[in-house]
Amino acid sequence: MTDESKPTTTDGGAPVSSDEHSLTVGADGPIVLHDHYLMEQMANFNRERIPERQPHAKGGGAFGRFEVTQDVSAYTRAAFLQPGAKTDVLIRFSTVAGERGSPDTWRDPRGFAVKFYTGEGNFDMVGNDTPVFFVRDPMKFQHFIRSQKRRADTNLRDHDMQWDFWTLSPESAHQVAWLMGDRGIPASWRHMNGYSSHTYMWVNAEGKKYWVKYHFKTDQGIKCLTQEQADSLAGSDSDYHTRDLYNAIERGDHPSWTLYMQIMPFEEAETYRFNPFDLTKVWPHGDYPLTEVGKLTLDRNPTDYHTEIEQAAFEPNNQVPGTGFSPDKMLLARVLAYADAHRSRLGVNYKQIPVNAPKCPVHSYSKDGAMRVQNVSDPVYAPNSKGGPAADPERYPEAATWSASGELVRHAYTPRRDDGDFVQAHALVREVMDEEARTRLVSNVVGHLSAGVSGPVLERAFQYWRNIDEEVGKRIEAGVRGD
Ligand code: NDP
Ligand code: HEM
Repeated sequence: MTDESKPTTTDGGAPVSSDEHSLTVGADGPIVLHDHYLMEQMANFNRERIPERQPHAKGGGAFGRFEVTQDVSAYTRAAFLQPGAKTDVLIRFSTVAGERGSPDTWRDPRGFAVKFYTGEGNFDMVGNDTPVFFVRDPMKFQHFIRSQKRRADTNLRDHDMQWDFWTLSPESAHQVAWLMGDRGIPASWRHMNGYSSHTYMWVNAEGKKYWVKYHFKTDQGIKCLTQEQADSLAGSDSDYHTRDLYNAIERGDHPSWTLYMQIMPFEEAETYRFNPFDLTKVWPHGDYPLTEVGKLTLDRNPTDYHTEIEQAAFEPNNQVPGTGFSPDKMLLARVLAYADAHRSRLGVNYKQIPVNAPKCPVHSYSKDGAMRVQNVSDPVYAPNSKGGPAADPERYPEAATWSASGELVRHAYTPRRDDGDFVQAHALVREVMDEEARTRLVSNVVGHLSAGVSGPVLERAFQYWRNIDEEVGKRIEAGVRGD
């Protein structure tokens, strides 16, 4: 027997004598209890599925690298962002509301999650293909997602439920206007941008702080699907985007994105005309132009979807020295939500699954737990006098900080001059979209509202759109009423 012949083995590595027949008492007799290999096959099969992600269940991904082409060292000390640095990355694209088998081409924001395996720990940029979000307080996130998924009684998705939530949450207007426009259905994952959406912080080597937003702009150009194209594809090839990415990488057509940053000096946040941490707002490019950083290229497909993509665990809390958070309440909640989701979905030691494991030494004090595979060594406590790891605040100070004070309250952000919920939605519809794009937007909304939305919810939807743009609102109402 040659090495190449690869005889089938049990999970224990022992060769088996048949891939086809269970062990029976004679050819026609019963199966014996000690056919443990048959049992191993059946038992493994019964445990193949793990819980899907609550949101963002349907997706696909690939590996690649990020290369810094410009010098942004004035803004961040992060090692992976220094000139010339090259870092391996994993990316996962996804839809939000659909289940694991749902069509890739449903109208929905797309997840754009990148894991950078840096020399100072994993850095995750868990963003979307949109620069804003539907809500600005994490208390509403769970309710929002439930309104997009399925009803309790029919187990059906329900446009009435979606518009009920949106129209009672006017802060959603900007994201809804974006979603109902052309970019609500990208032609492929390769043809869309990725945004951090949130404001984060960068800290340079001198400890100077900046507020920043990440923009990954597609080098393939933006391309979108019309509602009709997307509906047709949902029937003919529900894995259309997954297939597109895989095939592009297989044929050597490696997709890339150029990373740009918007950078706001730390002090300007206090006096900016709207709250720069409000996730329902973009920073206009006129105020904060894009600064180029580098290029992200995908060049390797996974070979095992389950271990490399389904078990991938992205978490916005994965920051490195030189990067950090902001007072965006949504972001601060996400910093806790993801690791909790991973502990529940993948188990407490999910960071030891190879795709999630940092590619730098880990010296943590976590210990034991189900499925731990990396050995822990003594001492298992700190402080200790036994040569165990010790934090180094001189070299790694808690640098990404800001000051805060006040009573404990449950309250919206303090209002500022240009905080209106409809201002940027209006700018998008009236100033960014041209007449043809507005006509497609109206058609998309009319189609959506005409599928099961009625009564007071429908009336509120008309008003919601009039608040965004008077003319577009009137056209939508006329379209739905058939005038
Ligand atoms: P700009 O004119 O400087 O930027 C407009 C942006 O809109 C561009 O980034 C463009 O992306 C993007 N865009 C073009 N068509 C669409 C569409 N159909 N749907 C969504 N985005 C589109 O204006 P401002 O920065 O002042 O922003 C004006 C509005 O543009 C905002 O209210 C926001 O809705 C939208 N926008 C702004 C972004 C920002 O970070 N400032 C980012 C994305 C959208 P591209 O360059 O790739 O064509
Ligand atoms: C996935 C929570 C807002 C982008 C998830 C998951 C949870 C979650 C629990 C599933 C994680 C998993 O099981 O692997 C939240 C909460 C939010 C929030 C509590 C707000 C309070 C956002 C925002 C964005 C975003 C604003 C984008 C800017 C993503 C992406 C994924 C995801 C891309 C999929 C990651 C992957 O590919 O594995 N979210 N989310 N989320 N979320 Fe959020």
